[in-house]
Amino acid sequence: MAVDLEKILRPVDHPLKPFEAKYMTLASGEHMVIRQIDRDEIPDILPYLEPLLHVERDYYDVVCARIYSELLAHYRCRAQDEYVLAVQIDGELAAVVNGRQVSPDLGMSLHTIALRRGLRVGAHAFAAKMEYHIDILGHQEVLIVAESPIGFRRWMIEYQLEKRFETAHELGGVPSWALTKDLFDRARSTLVVGRRPVPPEILAKAEAKILPPSDPPTPPADLLAATRSMYDPTATALIAQRNALGGETDHA
Ligand SMILES: CC(C)(COP(=O)(O)OP(=O)(O)OC[C@H]1O[C@@H](n2cnc3c(N)ncnc32)[C@H](O)[C@@H]1OP(=O)(O)O)[C@@H](O)C(=O)NCCC(=O)NCCS
Repeated sequence: MAVDLEKILRPVDHPLKPFEAKYMTLASGEHMVIRQIDRDEIPDILPYLEPLLHVERDYYDVVCARIYSELLAHYRCRAQDEYVLAVQIDGELAAVVNGRQVSPDLGMSLHTIALRRGLRVGAHAFAAKMEYHIDILGHQEVLIVAESPIGFRRWMIEYQLEKRFETAHELGGVPSWALTKDLFDRARSTLVVGRRPVPPEILAKAEAKILPPSDPPTPPADLLAATRSMYDPTATALIAQRNALGGETDHA
């Protein structure tokens, strides 16, 4: 008997209320839009995340590898009840956040990654994600972890998160922290910003195309790499290339 394996492998999502887009004006004077994206836009943002796999600083590599896999799994229908919010400044991708619903009362915060630094873009994106969990999806609490010290400062300390160390988080099985509705209400006036509805021309620009980040984090430049390879006796590729050209190795 033929079995339709796809029906078994593909989880059936519960319908989740949508996140209504919001916008804010940054300290730089630019407009930033936070909006929910659907599966069809995920292939547009993956290429902008991929280079961050090579940025060790502030744990971009770990967070990037994890969020990349979560977004890809969501796109290929291998994740359950996941949502993704994209943050755009004048169309360009500035941050991505994602999470999922575990049960009608419980949310699981997955990742927050900022592609523009120094403007609290990531902090605003995280606040929007918590707003989605608590105000829109009606979760009683959201389980959260931090991979980086900056993340710890931004979430655990700024929101005064409660320990739920008896519960392993989906991210690496590490002890969880929780944002409750009470904690969110306390943070609301200082940490949660943004206006609705987004003016149509600003929303249209964001929806038209997700533009590449203009100043994403990059690995530090290795200024001596070329020199080192010239003097590296194990640089067999370089030696083979010289031999092929018929030249002796002056530098070896
Ligand atoms: C955690 C994160 C989302 C916070 O984003 P954010 O709120 O926009 O904050 P930034 O990362 O831009 O800045 C954080 C701090 O580093 C400083 N900073 C680091 N790099 C900077 C840069 N290139 N330009 C300016 N400031 C920079 C900021 O001054 C800021 O200091 P502050 O905390 O005193 O305000 C972001 O750092 C990030 O994506 N990190 C890598 C992935 C990660 O750790 N995600 C969270 C997992 S828990």
